[in-house]
Amino acid sequence: MEQKNDFTKEIADRVLVSREEIQQAVARIGAEITKDYEGKELFVIGVLKGGFMFMADLVREINLPLQLDFIAVSSYGSSTKTSGVVRMIKDIDKPLDGKHLLIVEDIIDSGVTLKYLKEMFATRGPLSIKVCTIFDKPSRRKVEMKGDYVGIEIPDEFVIGYGLDYDGKYRNLPDLCVLRRDVYEKE
Ligand code: PRP
Repeated sequence: MEQKNDFTKEIADRVLVSREEIQQAVARIGAEITKDYEGKELFVIGVLKGGFMFMADLVREINLPLQLDFIAVSSYGSSTKTSGVVRMIKDIDKPLDGKHLLIVEDIIDSGVTLKYLKEMFATRGPLSIKVCTIFDKPSRRKVEMKGDYVGIEIPDEFVIGYGLDYDGKYRNLPDLCVLRRDVYEKE
């Protein structure tokens, strides 16, 4: 298995999106954002924990004097996720009025998290709110949600790496990998 750390052989079937492909997508999105937000007050909001790696890579590809912060949210377990129950763990304490918000996510799955975040931020008087994700699983959508900037569309596989976890682990893999079925089926 090419381009993987040794321990990933134990848990990953294959690389779904390589670090090179990710890097190209990040550079493309960064250039688009740079063009679209020139002369505007851009405030970039990273969604923890999954979004940390994309956020760090993306802001280095945006050639503008932006501000950034992070929020952390969590759902009340997978069964309630579709009902839209999202809990805020870490909020932003700065006022957001007069800013152009860009929410940065690792993945859009059901769309519930971003729907909640967009509605919540809309109450704080920003000039605009856009959504940016490096990965998108449109086949899993439960609510209407479209990314304004989308890196790579992926099939409905259990993926880990580049910020995404299984049981809290493997976020640090540089490639997006497919988790071995026997890893999550043995539980
Ligand atoms: C993941 C991911 C997104 C969300 C997407 O976060 O980082 O925030 O789920 O799923 P959705 O479109 O179905 O709402 P998770 O709740 O697993 O937390 P984490 O980022 O801390 O891993």
